[in-house]
Amino acid sequence: MSTESFRLRYLAKAAAGVPRDLANTFIASAIHPIRPTVLIYNCTFVCDARCEMCHNWKHGDRKSDMTLDQLDGVMNHRFWGAVENLNISGGEPTTRNDLPEMVELFHRRLPRMRKVGINTTGLTPHRAIPQLTRIVKFCAEKNLLFSARVSLDGIGDIHNQVRHVERGFDKACETIAAMQDLAGRYSNFQFGLAATIFATNLEDATNILAWARTKNLDIVFNMLRFTDAMLNNKDLQSTIGFQKREEDFMRSFFLDRVQEESVLSGQSFMYLHYADMIANGYIRTMPCPFQSQGLLLNPDGKLFYCENSKEIGNVLEEPAETLYFRAASLAHREDIKHKVCPTCLSPCQVNVGAMKQFVPYAKFLMRAYRVKRDPTRHLETLPTT
Ligand SMILES: C[S@@+](CC[C@H](N)C(=O)[O-])C[C@H]1O[C@@H](n2cnc3c(N)ncnc32)[C@H](O)[C@@H]1O
Ligand code: SF4
Ligand code: SF4
Repeated sequence: MSTESFRLRYLAKAAAGVPRDLANTFIASAIHPIRPTVLIYNCTFVCDARCEMCHNWKHGDRKSDMTLDQLDGVMNHRFWGAVENLNISGGEPTTRNDLPEMVELFHRRLPRMRKVGINTTGLTPHRAIPQLTRIVKFCAEKNLLFSARVSLDGIGDIHNQVRHVERGFDKACETIAAMQDLAGRYSNFQFGLAATIFATNLEDATNILAWARTKNLDIVFNMLRFTDAMLNNKDLQSTIGFQKREEDFMRSFFLDRVQEESVLSGQSFMYLHYADMIANGYIRTMPCPFQSQGLLLNPDGKLFYCENSKEIGNVLEEPAETLYFRAASLAHREDIKHKVCPTCLSPCQVNVGAMKQFVPYAKFLMRAYRVKRDPTRHLETLPTT
């Protein structure tokens, strides 16, 4: 399916929820905290790569991963009934044999779920291909949007070097080809690539883009970031964090993408904001649904409001609802809003928040059109914060 038509379907589904979303975001959340509408579930930290920019692979421990029975017990509660967007990540999700059943479980337990996303290395095609195929088919039957991305951090050896996997590029390509074929046959399935650029693969960023274009594959470029709850990589900040060379390159790379992308695409929204942040000393102007309506659940049951919050408890010990609405937890979330959000680089589900905030979104559209016309005047469009 083309990215444009998937986008239209996604917008239509999102639009159907707008009156309720607006009421929730602007009215309800001001009076009373609202239930989560976005959920990230890191289903395992077990991994089939040993990446240079993420240390989840060091924390893989199958024995501490919640089983499906445990997960079902946790999700069997009306508290989860507002979740609309689910992202399953890790670690490598396809290292779990029960990944398709997991998606089926979430479908049963999350009545408002309309979109599921999975990021994968694609490095183990004989597992990833059948698992993802079953999920695509299941989602098609249930009228759910499903989006999957294979991570690709270089063409050929550079990918192997970043991920520390022999023949990693060839293996990922096998999964990519099968998924691209599947996306052509299922209109509920959007498939693409994800790349994380940092010092090791900076020179390959344009190659990755060119390669994706020749294959007609959608691609998203992640901004390098450091978070223990999500990537276990705070220890890497001092060694691989951006220096001026990487900042200059990435700012202009992101602005180039804004020029080329449709302004209505989530990517354009994110890239312009990242270019802003690099230019303005990392002041965030992007919205984030996790400030008021998100949760991050880790493999062992530890619960976080977002990738930068403290652990608010463990769902195997106390109900998620208790942890989420506890006064001390909510006070912590307020504290994050003041102390961490202003410089946070997380892109997680950012479009969910963006589409619900009409005035800032309209302002973004106007700026994006100006930057598209002339990226050299980007600094003149920077919003005052
Ligand atoms: C943590 S991985 C989990 C899923 C799967 N293992 C994979 O690599 O696709 C999810 C995404 O995070 C990206 N990522 C890894 N390290 C990152 C970092 N330091 N900053 C930003 N994104 C990162 C990966 O490239 C991948 O696209
Ligand atoms: S980026 Fe993905 S593959 Fe790489 S270590 Fe992290 S979780 Fe594993
Ligand atoms: S710290 Fe980042 S991820 Fe967490 S709520 Fe704030 S902006 Fe969102």
